[in-house]
Amino acid sequence: MAVFGAIVILTQTLIASFIAIASASSPPVTFVFGDSLTDVGNNNHLQLSLAKSNYPWYGIDYKTGQPTGRFSNGRTIGDIISAKLGIESPPPYLSLSMDDDAILQGINYASGGAGILNETGFYFIEKLSFDDQITSFEKTKEAIKSKIGEKAAENLCNQALYFIGLGANDYVNNYLQPFLADAQAYTHDDFVELLMTALNGQLRRLYRLGARKMVFHGLGPLGCIPSQRVKSDSGQCLENVNQYVQEFNSQVQKLLVSLNSKLPGAQLSFADSYNIVMDLIVNPHHYGFKISNTSCCNVDTSIGGLCLPNSNLCSNRRDYVFWDAFHPSDAANQVIADQLFSDPHIQQAPSPARAPAPSHI
Ligand SMILES: *[C@@H]1O[C@H](CO)[C@@H](O)[C@H](O)[C@H]1NC(C)=O
Ligand SMILES: *[C@@H]1O[C@H](CO)[C@@H](O)[C@H](O)[C@H]1NC(C)=O
Repeated sequence: MAVFGAIVILTQTLIASFIAIASASSPPVTFVFGDSLTDVGNNNHLQLSLAKSNYPWYGIDYKTGQPTGRFSNGRTIGDIISAKLGIESPPPYLSLSMDDDAILQGINYASGGAGILNETGFYFIEKLSFDDQITSFEKTKEAIKSKIGEKAAENLCNQALYFIGLGANDYVNNYLQPFLADAQAYTHDDFVELLMTALNGQLRRLYRLGARKMVFHGLGPLGCIPSQRVKSDSGQCLENVNQYVQEFNSQVQKLLVSLNSKLPGAQLSFADSYNIVMDLIVNPHHYGFKISNTSCCNVDTSIGGLCLPNSNLCSNRRDYVFWDAFHPSDAANQVIADQLFSDPHIQQAPSPARAPAPSHI
């Protein structure tokens, strides 16, 4: 019960942070850590990476109509949330020089193929794992210090908002690949424990670097993404995968509650989109979509499932929840971002106080 109550407060903290940020006089500085769901072009700069999307038909519905390195036909959820907060979507870390004043306005470190674990996605050859992304943030902080001084840099890092979304590749491009070592070595309970041990260390490292307001975006129902459905007998969702994901989400929430109680001033919250995405998949018509069991881009899941220049597209991209075998369409990202932003708690959200310490965890 204590844990459940604390998790409800985690959600309220998230909404309260959105409200506080949306109404603050100066725009928030945001740092984004993640994978292909939030990459805005870092992998374009990794010569050898096989996890790239800087070619047509990616970006066909983006404002420029051009590919940018986003794994979507248009915007990411992060782009849409940034717009709601009244800020530009932060630029990719690898596009910036550390001399650039833009580093004071927020940076996106997300990299397609990345996971919580180092070994995740190794067959993409190059990517920035979560540890690499934190190391990049550490370098950024040094650069910020030399620009504005130690005290102001510390203050900037304490006040900034950190969006973190990782874990999907630890499943899709690691644990769910039966030929890989982690799939063979671990039961799911042990694998989740391995992930939580790593994540605990990573969130604490961010805290030591000055991060206080962190939002962890949980996983959606990965068992229902097109790349997983094709492994079933008749195109249905893989229930065991959805159970893994729900276990992961629940363990992350416990970890965040525990860190809030142990780390002074920490305000970690959990953004839960599992039910929203599941509802989009089960009831696409409620949201103006027609198809949720396959992707708009006719991808070949046996060779990766990305939307290649020679792939055929559906006739109406707005009809599909999924763009390629892994990623929601621009239209679906809009629905998910809207729902994350407009929780019914929003009217009675408490001031952005730290969640009270649970009695036992
Ligand atoms: C990843 O590798 C680095 C360097 O070897 C190591 O310091 C770090 O602990 C590893 N991270 C994880 C999550 O295993
Ligand atoms: C998607 O669902 C429709 C309608 O239920 C079905 O006809 C079609 O075969 C399914 N497609 C896939 C790829 O499973």
